[in-house]
Amino acid sequence: MRDPQKLRSARWFGGPEYEALVRRAALRSEGLGPAGFEGKPVIGICNSWSELTHCNVHLRRVAEAVKRGVWAAGGVPLEFPTISLGELFMKPTTMLFRNLMAMDVEECITANPIDGVVLLSGCDKTTPAQLMGAASADLPTVMVTGGPQLSGHWGRKEIGSGTDGRLLFQEYRAGRLTDEQLAEVEGCIARSNGHCMVMGTASTMASMAESLGITLPGAAAIPAADARRFQLAEDAGRRIVDMVWEDLRPSKILTRAAFENAVRTDMAIGGSTNAVVHLLAIAGRAGVDLRLSDFDRLSRETPFLANIKPSGRYLMEDFYYAGGLPVVMKEILPLLDGSSLTANGRTIAENVADAACSNTDVIRPLDRPLNDEGGTAILYGNLAPDGAVIKQTAASPHLLQHRGKAVVFDRYEELRARIDDDGLEIDENSVLVLKHAGPTGGPGFPEWGHLPIPAKLLRQGIDDIVRISDARMSGTSFGTDVLHVSPEAAVGGPLAAVRTGDVIELDVPARRIQLLVEDNEILGRLAAYEPPPAPYRRGYGRLFLREVTQAHEGCDFRFLERLTEGEAAGAFDAERLP
Ligand code: FES
Repeated sequence: MRDPQKLRSARWFGGPEYEALVRRAALRSEGLGPAGFEGKPVIGICNSWSELTHCNVHLRRVAEAVKRGVWAAGGVPLEFPTISLGELFMKPTTMLFRNLMAMDVEECITANPIDGVVLLSGCDKTTPAQLMGAASADLPTVMVTGGPQLSGHWGRKEIGSGTDGRLLFQEYRAGRLTDEQLAEVEGCIARSNGHCMVMGTASTMASMAESLGITLPGAAAIPAADARRFQLAEDAGRRIVDMVWEDLRPSKILTRAAFENAVRTDMAIGGSTNAVVHLLAIAGRAGVDLRLSDFDRLSRETPFLANIKPSGRYLMEDFYYAGGLPVVMKEILPLLDGSSLTANGRTIAENVADAACSNTDVIRPLDRPLNDEGGTAILYGNLAPDGAVIKQTAASPHLLQHRGKAVVFDRYEELRARIDDDGLEIDENSVLVLKHAGPTGGPGFPEWGHLPIPAKLLRQGIDDIVRISDARMSGTSFGTDVLHVSPEAAVGGPLAAVRTGDVIELDVPARRIQLLVEDNEILGRLAAYEPPPAPYRRGYGRLFLREVTQAHEGCDFRFLERLTEGEAAGAFDAERLP
């Protein structure tokens, strides 16, 4: 269709009515003459720029590049802000606000005279929040992520965001790093614009967007400071105008096959465990019945290829120079549905056909993987009836099958206060357990799951033990951390029954997590369990506690999941208003 009358924005700007006149006058007040906008697709540039989100602080420049492309292709770019989610600044956790941002994105798109959308994201939660909102809005959409930071350098050592930051801080706690050295690390670990430059949540979610087909090919790994990031943004601006004329909407891209492609790609890159929660939520918005168990099935069949921290040894800049995500997807193409449609109008198979790897140590070939299985494994058992996740590629191999006595903390504050107490009875065989850190207990599902190793163990040279919680963990973290235990303790999940001294068995190859206590005893403890008081009594926090789903369901709000056609029939349609 190239009929301007059929543009969605024509319902706002077309026709002789008074409302259309004042809306055209409003555009003219921004300096746009009629020749500049009449009959042209309006492209909303949904920008999560914020100086409170350091990873997204360059997105105004990215937006300028997008606008060049939109103008060149005959569209009208209109940039708009939404709330932004800065991982390092927001308390208690950005995850508390992911759904709020998704609602903001959806409502800004649907309430306005927009024909197509370019999403600009970067930091961890901004990418899934925008994808959730855009999937619900279902107007032609292309995403441009902000790209990773350049690699950090400390002297001759290459260091990567959270991963090496945590390692070096652990060295400091063990007394092996001085104050001066730590200050040097602080100055050089984040040396450019962009998001964390390991395969943390931001890099993973950028890769998920690309593997779902909602970005242009090759978009995920270009460093934020690289001129090619801005060239790609201009291309996206050009492309979205055609997507409007082609009516290429997310519902044609975000199919069941696309999600399976994304999950397999996640496994091949050793992606963040947070991708599990976010992909489940995006799928819910797209009306795709993706389950936690699908992740384990696909993980078992997909080798791990991308040698990037925290599971590997390189950084995102190296990944880009090696060929980036198209090379990974070309390697696993026999496992993917290559016919899936993407934002450029071509299929996944067509997009990756010419991808070439320039460093097979950074991106391993399919016949020489780093691990035969994918990065994330899903565990079940009496401790996690609805599932738990572990990043097996970032865990210690000797702990993947382990039995040990629990050392339990009811609250994170209590754990932080006592973990370095030399009187704490804990050794290398112990299993450290944290309760009340899940979606409602945290509140907001904070990234506390990479529980600190007690200083006395660090001094003994022990840098990993089995850790279990209903929390999430930063994608930049590493260790034998069992996460997302579902249902969480605060809603009476079996984790609430664990006591110090109980024996817990972890068996990752068998995908089991068991509390070795008699069933009757567990039931008795749960019957006597009293959840902590609700942390929020009013406002958005109260809404969150009432509506959020559990980890294995994606933690979206129940009322935001896609309606069936029958449920949606006869729904209010604001677009029809004058
Ligand atoms: Fe934004 Fe790591 S702090 S991606």
